[in-house]
Amino acid sequence: MKVSVKVPASSANIGPGFDCIGMALPIYNTITIEETVLPGTGIEINVMSDDDSIDEKIFHDIPKDENSLVYKAVEMLYNSIGQEPSELKINIQTGIPIARGLGSSSSIIVGGLLAANKLLGDPADETALLAIATEVEGHPDNVAPAILGGVVLATQEEDGSLAYSKLEWPDEWDITVCIPDFQLSTEIARSILPKEVSMQDAIFNAKHLAMLIQAVNTNDDKLMKVALKDKLHQPYREKLVPGMREIMDAFKHEDGVLGCVLSGAGPSLLIISYKYDLDKIKSTVKEIWEAQNIKFDIRTLKVEEQGAFVF
Ligand code: HSE
Repeated sequence: MKVSVKVPASSANIGPGFDCIGMALPIYNTITIEETVLPGTGIEINVMSDDDSIDEKIFHDIPKDENSLVYKAVEMLYNSIGQEPSELKINIQTGIPIARGLGSSSSIIVGGLLAANKLLGDPADETALLAIATEVEGHPDNVAPAILGGVVLATQEEDGSLAYSKLEWPDEWDITVCIPDFQLSTEIARSILPKEVSMQDAIFNAKHLAMLIQAVNTNDDKLMKVALKDKLHQPYREKLVPGMREIMDAFKHEDGVLGCVLSGAGPSLLIISYKYDLDKIKSTVKEIWEAQNIKFDIRTLKVEEQGAFVF
């Protein structure tokens, strides 16, 4: 038997929602799991890219053994029903740029889990799949939108239980994703964060995330412009992303640009705008990144409302 799953990219944090909110985007990875006929063949993992120009080194850097996230996720699912995975061939077709803050690793975890779940006869429901994916990834803000689609608020409580809820993103708010041609590992981008933050900064983010949710729910672009600010991760990470501060500053006083935030742990940036000239966004980013010799891809996208699906 062979099962494939198409999984969307995701952009986590959206400014103040560090580790608890993310949106699915229409860029995809496809994960296929095939039961092999030869007993004792273990698990084979192959990675292929939609993009021929992709750096070979990237593939070498992706673990293809039991250290791989897809292996861990599949193994946890099998173990949850008292089984061990074996005789499986896992193919990962990547369309989501790797290590750019677009949820590539989450999509691989989710794709592996959903495919394995299908092969096993659907023993795990949506919440159980989300719990395993969160445990492997460490936080739910990419895996939740990858599974559910749309914009999702999600938290894993101290007892391990999950709570999540979808928000309805205003259709007229444009999302421009700026993807530089360098990688930034989430591990590095998390390692530079402080272990503790001030009460003042914690309150700042709580206020702004509350405003973000209200702005989305009431389609209030003016409130959204106030909301899209963060003091918990972006100020520490900006030194890892050349041009990030300049790009953010360039749009700060533009009424139609509701905000420019780091996508996940970076280095991609997400620019949210309303009735604003998208060519102007592109030319501003181009001017700043080209002056720093940074090549990039820039795309205006809609939120992907459909989560991962088996086919
Ligand atoms: N919330 C996570 C972070 C997303 O910012 O580190 C990246 O995995």
